Amino acid sequence: MARAESLLHWYDRHRRRLPWRDAPAPDPYRIWVSEVMLQQTTVAAVGPRYARFLARFPDVGRLAAADWAELAEEWAGLGYYARARNLHAAAKEVAAKGWPGDAAGWRALPGVGAYTAAAVAAIALNEAVVPVDGNVERVLSRVFAIETPLPRSRPEIGRHAASFMEQEAARARPGDFAQALFDLGATICTPRRPACALCPWREECEAFRRGIQDTLPVKPPK
Ligand code: ADE
Repeated sequence: MARAESLLHWYDRHRRRLPWRDAPAPDPYRIWVSEVMLQQTTVAAVGPRYARFLARFPDVGRLAAADWAELAEEWAGLGYYARARNLHAAAKEVAAKGWPGDAAGWRALPGVGAYTAAAVAAIALNEAVVPVDGNVERVLSRVFAIETPLPRSRPEIGRHAASFMEQEAARARPGDFAQALFDLGATICTPRRPACALCPWREECEAFRRGIQDTLPVKPPK
């Protein structure tokens, strides 16, 4: 069994220093903005734009009250403007009704899919959920040696993801657990030539044990 504790221990030593991890206390607004930016933009590209965005729109009230033109100007270059449209609409909803209290509430906001809802709920609310994006799919496909091709394997991956929250170590730190999975996928369990020698789950990874990590996840036939 892959132990949440091994991954969290690694995260405590090796986590990436990223701008949205600097806040002294989890702030739903700042975390939400980071997750929306990261939906279709790389960590490297989001970095400098994130601070600039927060300087211009420091809280949800200011974002809700902004003109679309001002927001569009700030979003320039990030692409996928529907994200900014949804961010604006959701900010107005939050300004009127308050912050969602759980992942299901987040999911109901414009532009917030299952992944983003789980990420924000885990990181900002410490809700015991595991967000699954493409990186997490790859990590879990390997750890559990899931040979069913994507996307058919998604329900199975989702069950494995959720089952981590049966472990006390993960339940105590859902936000860190989620971000540890992101970091593992970005820096160690990479699509090609994963750095298994450095992986905290090396001893617990079924794909590594069988030597099939390079073949996973299996992509759908074209
Ligand atoms: N990708 C999506 N969300 C992320 C986060 N919070 N940290 C690092 N990478 C991410």
